[in-house]
Amino acid sequence: MTIEEALRRLMPVVPELLPGHVWLAGAGPGDVGQLTLHAIAGLAQADVVLHDALVSEAVLALAKPEAELVPAGKRCGRPSSEQTTISAGLVAEARAGRRVLRLKGGDPFVFGRGGEEVLALAEAGIPFRVIPGMTAGLAGLAAAMIPATMRGINQAIIFATGHGAESQHASLNWEAMASLGQPIVLYMGARRIGTIARRLMAGGMPADLPAALILDATRAEQTVTVTDLEHIAGTVGEGDEESPALIVIGRIVTMRARITDLISQAKQEVLF
Ligand SMILES: C[S@@+](CC[C@H](N)C(=O)[O-])C[C@H]1O[C@@H](n2cnc3c(N)ncnc32)[C@H](O)[C@@H]1O
Repeated sequence: MTIEEALRRLMPVVPELLPGHVWLAGAGPGDVGQLTLHAIAGLAQADVVLHDALVSEAVLALAKPEAELVPAGKRCGRPSSEQTTISAGLVAEARAGRRVLRLKGGDPFVFGRGGEEVLALAEAGIPFRVIPGMTAGLAGLAAAMIPATMRGINQAIIFATGHGAESQHASLNWEAMASLGQPIVLYMGARRIGTIARRLMAGGMPADLPAALILDATRAEQTVTVTDLEHIAGTVGEGDEESPALIVIGRIVTMRARITDLISQAKQEVLF
């Protein structure tokens, strides 16, 4: 079957985005190849696309030419739309009879306030659909050649946000998390990694535990820096604040070097 035939065969499973309806969709971490069929269908049908700051230009370029693209993102440390304004905007656009796509980076329900938006739609009686997306913590690890789970290394994986790490009230118990001995994938953690790393070491994580900083995961500009827990904070540069960052802490990080060493020894071509 050709790609065109495969896509044609899939067309009947693509739902219709109706006037007055909202689709809350995940766009994945940036690479257009991570979009789901339903997210593409949403882009192709929407009259208005309210999108997060992290949704890439290449993804937005798939909207129909006459669609209105409205930035409605929250970005740490920058002026951003209030959550209540975003939710009210979704309700207003739907009530105006438009086909509305709310497009978020990654998965809409992972550290993305998608739950709050769906509650607002449900309370307002607006028909909606939730379209899962590939979360950065999974797609970003795979794109960096770090298996999220590896037999003999880990039996669980922790996804955590670094947001609030310096607040006495909102902070997670990093010392207790360290004691679980399982890898941690940190979203929004670059600015607070100094504090988090200190607390993980205080909880018993070894200073030489492998750690990686992944910037712009799955995008053409992706970079991966491998170091250890003690030195991970030093790998975050000032200019990096522009780039979305994931931090991975745990022995799964060693897999990247094992895989890439074998590839270079064999002079093998790997297509990312
Ligand atoms: C507000 S959270 C949204 C997460 C998103 N809903 C998801 O499922 O991936 C934004 C954070 O996700 C991470 N992130 C998203 N896209 C990324 C990418 N392409 N590369 C690295 N980190 C990314 C970063 O930690 C960023 O600060």
